Amino acid sequence: MLDPKAIVTIDGPSGSGKSTISRGLAAKLHFTYLDTGAMYRAVGLALERQAIDLADPESLAKCLATIELAFSPNGDDDVLVLLNGEDISQAIRTSEMGLVASRVSAQPLVREKLTALQRQLGEKGGLVAEGRDMGTVVFPKAACKFFLSASAEERARRRQKQLAEKGQLVNYQEILAQISKRDHDDANRALAPLKPAADAIMVDSSSMDPDAVLAFMLDSIAKKQAKGGRHGE
Ligand code: DC
Repeated sequence: MLDPKAIVTIDGPSGSGKSTISRGLAAKLHFTYLDTGAMYRAVGLALERQAIDLADPESLAKCLATIELAFSPNGDDDVLVLLNGEDISQAIRTSEMGLVASRVSAQPLVREKLTALQRQLGEKGGLVAEGRDMGTVVFPKAACKFFLSASAEERARRRQKQLAEKGQLVNYQEILAQISKRDHDDANRALAPLKPAADAIMVDSSSMDPDAVLAFMLDSIAKKQAKGGRHGE
Protein backbone atom coordinates (compact mmCIF):
# COMPACT_ATOMS: atom_id res chain seq x y z
CA MET A 1 0.00 0.00 0.00
CA LEU A 2 1.27 3.43 -0.92
CA ASP A 3 1.57 5.80 2.05
CA PRO A 4 -1.51 8.09 1.86
CA LYS A 5 0.88 11.02 2.40
CA ALA A 6 3.12 10.05 -0.50
CA ILE A 7 3.75 12.23 -3.54
CA VAL A 8 3.81 10.80 -7.06
CA THR A 9 5.26 12.99 -9.82
CA ILE A 10 4.57 12.83 -13.55
CA ASP A 11 6.77 15.00 -15.74
CA GLY A 12 6.96 15.11 -19.49
CA PRO A 13 6.60 17.21 -22.63
CA SER A 14 3.40 18.87 -23.77
CA GLY A 15 0.78 16.55 -25.22
CA SER A 16 2.25 13.37 -23.73
CA GLY A 17 -1.04 12.63 -21.96
CA LYS A 18 0.14 13.81 -18.54
CA SER A 19 -3.18 15.40 -17.60
CA THR A 20 -5.37 12.41 -18.44
CA ILE A 21 -2.96 10.00 -16.78
CA SER A 22 -2.32 12.16 -13.70
CA ARG A 23 -6.04 12.68 -13.18
CA GLY A 24 -6.68 8.94 -13.59
CA LEU A 25 -3.84 7.95 -11.27
CA ALA A 26 -4.97 10.44 -8.60
CA ALA A 27 -8.49 8.96 -8.76
CA LYS A 28 -7.18 5.38 -8.45
CA LEU A 29 -4.93 6.27 -5.50
CA HIS A 30 -7.52 8.61 -3.90
CA PHE A 31 -4.91 11.37 -4.09
CA THR A 32 -5.27 15.05 -5.01
CA TYR A 33 -4.32 15.99 -8.56
CA LEU A 34 -2.03 19.01 -8.98
CA ASP A 35 -1.83 20.50 -12.49
CA THR A 36 1.21 22.80 -12.36
CA GLY A 37 1.00 23.60 -16.08
CA ALA A 38 -2.33 25.29 -15.32
CA MET A 39 -0.52 27.47 -12.77
CA TYR A 40 2.02 28.65 -15.37
CA ARG A 41 -0.80 29.23 -17.84
CA ALA A 42 -2.73 31.28 -15.26
CA VAL A 43 0.30 33.45 -14.49
CA GLY A 44 0.89 33.84 -18.24
CA LEU A 45 -2.68 35.04 -18.69
CA ALA A 46 -2.37 37.54 -15.82
CA LEU A 47 0.92 38.95 -17.14
CA GLU A 48 -0.44 39.16 -20.67
CA ARG A 49 -3.62 40.92 -19.61
CA GLN A 50 -1.55 43.57 -17.86
CA ALA A 51 0.91 43.74 -20.77
CA ILE A 52 3.84 43.18 -18.40
CA ASP A 53 7.26 43.48 -20.01
CA LEU A 54 9.13 40.33 -18.95
CA ALA A 55 12.41 42.20 -19.32
CA ASP A 56 11.37 44.60 -16.55
CA PRO A 57 11.86 42.70 -13.25
CA GLU A 58 10.32 45.45 -11.13
CA SER A 59 6.95 45.50 -12.86
CA LEU A 60 7.04 41.71 -13.12
CA ALA A 61 7.56 41.38 -9.35
CA LYS A 62 4.82 43.94 -8.65
CA CYS A 63 2.33 42.13 -10.84
CA LEU A 64 3.24 38.68 -9.44
CA ALA A 65 2.58 39.98 -5.92
CA THR A 66 -1.03 40.71 -6.92
CA ILE A 67 -1.66 37.23 -8.34
CA GLU A 68 -3.55 34.74 -6.21
CA LEU A 69 -4.13 31.27 -7.61
CA ALA A 70 -6.51 28.67 -6.30
CA PHE A 71 -8.01 25.36 -7.39
CA SER A 72 -11.62 24.56 -6.66
CA PRO A 73 -13.20 21.11 -7.14
CA ASN A 74 -15.91 21.07 -9.80
CA GLY A 75 -17.84 17.82 -9.65
CA ASP A 76 -16.13 14.46 -9.29
CA ASP A 77 -13.24 14.68 -11.71
CA ASP A 78 -12.85 18.32 -12.62
CA VAL A 79 -11.04 21.24 -11.01
CA LEU A 80 -11.56 24.93 -11.68
CA VAL A 81 -8.53 27.23 -11.87
CA LEU A 82 -9.16 30.56 -10.16
CA LEU A 83 -7.10 33.68 -10.78
CA ASN A 84 -7.88 36.21 -8.05
CA GLY A 85 -11.25 34.50 -7.70
CA GLU A 86 -12.07 34.51 -11.45
CA ASP A 87 -12.67 31.16 -13.14
CA ILE A 88 -10.11 31.07 -15.97
CA SER A 89 -10.18 27.29 -16.57
CA GLN A 90 -11.34 27.65 -20.18
CA ALA A 91 -9.34 30.77 -21.05
CA ILE A 92 -5.99 29.09 -20.33
CA ARG A 93 -6.67 25.96 -22.42
CA THR A 94 -5.58 27.26 -25.82
CA SER A 95 -2.39 26.50 -27.77
CA GLU A 96 -1.49 30.20 -27.61
CA MET A 97 -1.69 30.17 -23.81
CA GLY A 98 0.57 27.11 -23.83
CA LEU A 99 3.24 29.11 -25.64
CA VAL A 100 2.70 32.12 -23.34
CA ALA A 101 3.03 29.82 -20.29
CA SER A 102 6.21 28.33 -21.70
CA ARG A 103 7.66 31.83 -22.16
CA VAL A 104 6.81 33.10 -18.67
CA SER A 105 7.93 29.82 -17.08
CA ALA A 106 11.56 30.63 -17.99
CA GLN A 107 11.42 33.69 -15.67
CA PRO A 108 13.15 33.08 -12.31
CA LEU A 109 10.62 35.24 -10.40
CA VAL A 110 7.72 33.26 -11.82
CA ARG A 111 9.33 29.89 -11.02
CA GLU A 112 10.20 31.05 -7.50
CA LYS A 113 6.59 32.01 -6.77
CA LEU A 114 5.04 28.88 -8.27
CA THR A 115 7.59 26.44 -6.84
CA ALA A 116 6.84 27.80 -3.34
CA LEU A 117 3.09 27.54 -3.92
CA GLN A 118 3.39 23.99 -5.29
CA ARG A 119 5.43 22.86 -2.25
CA GLN A 120 2.85 24.45 0.00
CA LEU A 121 0.05 22.58 -1.79
CA GLY A 122 2.11 19.38 -1.41
CA GLU A 123 2.72 19.75 2.32
CA LYS A 124 -0.01 17.33 3.32
CA GLY A 125 1.03 14.79 0.68
CA GLY A 126 -1.41 12.44 -1.00
CA LEU A 127 -0.65 14.18 -4.27
CA VAL A 128 -0.15 13.33 -7.93
CA ALA A 129 1.75 16.32 -9.30
CA GLU A 130 2.22 16.79 -13.04
CA GLY A 131 4.51 19.24 -14.81
CA ARG A 132 8.06 19.57 -16.11
CA ASP A 133 10.13 19.79 -12.90
CA MET A 134 8.06 17.95 -10.32
CA GLY A 135 10.51 15.09 -9.80
CA THR A 136 13.69 17.09 -10.38
CA VAL A 137 13.09 20.35 -8.48
CA VAL A 138 9.77 20.73 -6.68
CA PHE A 139 9.41 17.29 -5.04
CA PRO A 140 12.84 15.63 -5.31
CA LYS A 141 11.94 13.22 -2.50
CA ALA A 142 8.70 12.02 -4.15
CA ALA A 143 7.89 8.36 -3.46
CA CYS A 144 7.49 7.53 -7.13
CA LYS A 145 8.49 9.53 -10.22
CA PHE A 146 7.43 9.01 -13.81
CA PHE A 147 8.60 10.66 -17.02
CA LEU A 148 5.88 10.31 -19.62
CA SER A 149 6.70 10.91 -23.26
CA ALA A 150 5.49 10.10 -26.76
CA SER A 151 6.83 10.98 -30.20
CA ALA A 152 6.23 14.60 -31.28
CA GLU A 153 4.12 13.34 -34.22
CA GLU A 154 1.87 11.24 -31.99
CA ARG A 155 1.48 14.12 -29.53
CA ALA A 156 0.56 16.49 -32.37
CA ARG A 157 -2.08 14.01 -33.60
CA ARG A 158 -3.55 13.71 -30.11
CA ARG A 159 -3.59 17.48 -29.59
CA GLN A 160 -5.27 18.05 -32.96
CA LYS A 161 -7.98 15.54 -32.02
CA GLN A 162 -8.45 17.13 -28.58
CA LEU A 163 -8.80 20.61 -30.08
CA ALA A 164 -11.19 19.35 -32.78
CA GLU A 165 -13.40 17.89 -30.05
CA LYS A 166 -13.61 21.39 -28.59
CA GLY A 167 -14.50 22.80 -32.01
CA GLN A 168 -11.05 24.30 -32.66
CA LEU A 169 -9.81 23.20 -36.08
CA VAL A 170 -6.05 23.60 -36.22
CA ASN A 171 -3.68 22.43 -38.95
CA TYR A 172 -1.54 19.36 -38.01
CA GLN A 173 1.76 20.91 -39.20
CA GLU A 174 1.04 24.04 -37.17
CA ILE A 175 0.46 21.96 -34.01
CA LEU A 176 3.58 19.87 -34.66
CA ALA A 177 5.65 23.05 -35.05
CA GLN A 178 4.21 24.49 -31.79
CA ILE A 179 4.89 21.25 -29.92
CA SER A 180 8.46 21.06 -31.24
CA LYS A 181 9.11 24.68 -30.27
CA ARG A 182 7.71 24.15 -26.78
CA ASP A 183 9.78 20.94 -26.33
CA HIS A 184 12.89 22.82 -27.36
CA ASP A 185 12.22 25.87 -25.16
CA ASP A 186 11.16 23.84 -22.10
CA ALA A 187 14.15 21.50 -22.36
CA ASN A 188 16.74 24.20 -23.02
CA ARG A 189 15.90 26.89 -20.49
CA ALA A 190 18.43 27.54 -17.73
CA LEU A 191 16.03 27.05 -14.81
CA ALA A 192 14.29 23.74 -14.02
CA PRO A 193 14.43 22.47 -17.62
CA LEU A 194 12.26 19.61 -18.78
CA LYS A 195 14.28 16.46 -18.10
CA PRO A 196 13.70 13.14 -16.37
CA ALA A 197 14.82 12.86 -12.74
CA ALA A 198 17.67 10.37 -12.34
CA ASP A 199 15.30 8.02 -10.47
CA ALA A 200 12.28 8.52 -12.76
CA ILE A 201 10.56 5.56 -14.42
CA MET A 202 10.44 6.25 -18.18
CA VAL A 203 7.14 5.63 -19.97
CA ASP A 204 6.82 6.00 -23.75
CA SER A 205 3.08 6.19 -24.45
CA SER A 206 3.38 6.47 -28.27
CA SER A 207 1.67 3.13 -28.78
CA MET A 208 -0.12 2.74 -25.44
CA ASP A 209 -3.66 3.80 -24.63
CA PRO A 210 -4.34 5.64 -21.33
CA ASP A 211 -5.59 2.46 -19.60
CA ALA A 212 -2.36 0.64 -20.45
CA VAL A 213 -0.25 3.56 -19.17
CA LEU A 214 -2.27 3.67 -15.93
CA ALA A 215 -1.97 -0.08 -15.42
CA PHE A 216 1.80 0.12 -16.00
CA MET A 217 2.15 2.97 -13.49
CA LEU A 218 0.06 1.26 -10.80
CA ASP A 219 2.12 -1.89 -11.28
CA SER A 220 5.39 0.11 -11.07
CA ILE A 221 4.20 1.80 -7.85
CA ALA A 222 3.26 -1.57 -6.32
CA LYS A 223 6.64 -3.07 -7.31
CA LYS A 224 8.53 -0.09 -5.92
CA GLN A 225 6.60 -0.35 -2.66
CA ALA A 226 7.31 -4.07 -2.36
CA LYS A 227 11.01 -3.47 -2.99
CA GLY A 228 11.11 -0.58 -0.49
CA GLY A 229 9.43 -2.80 2.12
CA ARG A 230 12.01 -5.59 1.65
CA HIS A 231 14.91 -3.12 1.88
CA GLY A 232 13.44 -1.67 5.05
CA GLU A 233 13.28 -5.06 6.80
O1 DC B 1 1.63 21.20 -19.08
P1 DC B 1 1.20 22.48 -19.83
O2 DC B 1 1.21 22.33 -21.31
O3 DC B 1 -0.10 22.99 -19.33
O4 DC B 1 2.33 23.56 -19.44
C1 DC B 1 2.38 24.85 -20.02
C2 DC B 1 3.80 25.40 -19.93
O5 DC B 1 4.11 25.67 -18.57
C3 DC B 1 4.91 24.46 -20.41
O6 DC B 1 5.21 24.64 -21.77
C4 DC B 1 6.09 24.82 -19.55
C5 DC B 1 5.48 25.40 -18.31
N1 DC B 1 5.58 24.51 -17.15
C6 DC B 1 6.76 24.52 -16.45
O7 DC B 1 7.69 25.21 -16.82
N2 DC B 1 6.88 23.78 -15.32
C7 DC B 1 5.87 23.00 -14.89
N3 DC B 1 6.02 22.30 -13.77
C8 DC B 1 4.66 22.95 -15.62
C9 DC B 1 4.55 23.70 -16.76
